[in-house]
Amino acid sequence: MAEAPLLAVNGLIKRFGGLVATDQLDLEVGAAEVHALIGPNGAGKTTLIGQVAGELRPDAGSIHLTGRDITAEPVHRRCALGLARSFQITSVLRDFTVLENVALAVQARLGHSFRFWRNARRDPALTGPAGDILAQIGLAERAGMPAGALSHGEHRQLEIAMALATRPRLLLRDEPMAGMGPEESARMVEILRGLKGQVGMLLVEHDMDAVFALADRITVLVYGRAIASGTADEIRRHPDVREAYLGHDDGAH
Ligand SMILES: Nc1ncnc2c1ncn2[C@@H]1O[C@H](COP(=O)(O)OP(=O)(O)OP(=O)(O)O)[C@@H](O)[C@H]1O
Ligand SMILES: [Mg+2]
Repeated sequence: MAEAPLLAVNGLIKRFGGLVATDQLDLEVGAAEVHALIGPNGAGKTTLIGQVAGELRPDAGSIHLTGRDITAEPVHRRCALGLARSFQITSVLRDFTVLENVALAVQARLGHSFRFWRNARRDPALTGPAGDILAQIGLAERAGMPAGALSHGEHRQLEIAMALATRPRLLLRDEPMAGMGPEESARMVEILRGLKGQVGMLLVEHDMDAVFALADRITVLVYGRAIASGTADEIRRHPDVREAYLGHDDGAH
């Protein structure tokens, strides 16, 4: 029997009143695959991410992570099974250093009690792995700086470092380049590219250059339905995609 995919979404349906935001969606992410989800505003990308993360309950269908049915599992169970914990900017402790924030995320994975944190923030068992992750993400120079002093782009890098500290198998990213200038975006693409092979990724992104640079597979969502799925080349050439989504483009991609 073939090994179960990292993530398998089957027949997923999510309605908001009369609106069908996720419409019979099937989608898979293989181990260490970067699967990008693209589509116009309101297509249902964030709604899908919310259902996979466990923040939104689907009306029908199923979600499996490494073969386990997580459709009804709470967020923390999904994390224990390998879904990246979503550390948003709001969960970063601004007065703590960058290194301490990542060390806290390492501690969360190890399940230590937060009561011992006052000592743990200098515990090499936590700061060691945290430092390694910062080096990989390109934030080592900022390790001793309060997280509140980081630029917007560096903040987004820190979120990824904190997610990696939980040793996830699947990383969910909803518009990681949003609000970034070209330099910060390029840096983020390089960081995400550096994670290829280490972790699977479901990536929502409007920046098509970033998507084409990163994705092993691309699914195009329109009105909650997957209208096409394939490699970057297949998606670029797909007539329905060009019309529905890239239609206004000059075809230069
Ligand atoms: N909590 C909600 N209640 C009601 N309608 C919602 C809710 N969340 C999303 N929707 C609607 O569901 C549809 C899909 O929204 P969603 O945010 O998933 O789109 P998206 O593809 O992420 O768009 P964008 O590219 O603008 O981020 C939209 O029509 C949106 O208005
Ligand atoms: Mg969205």
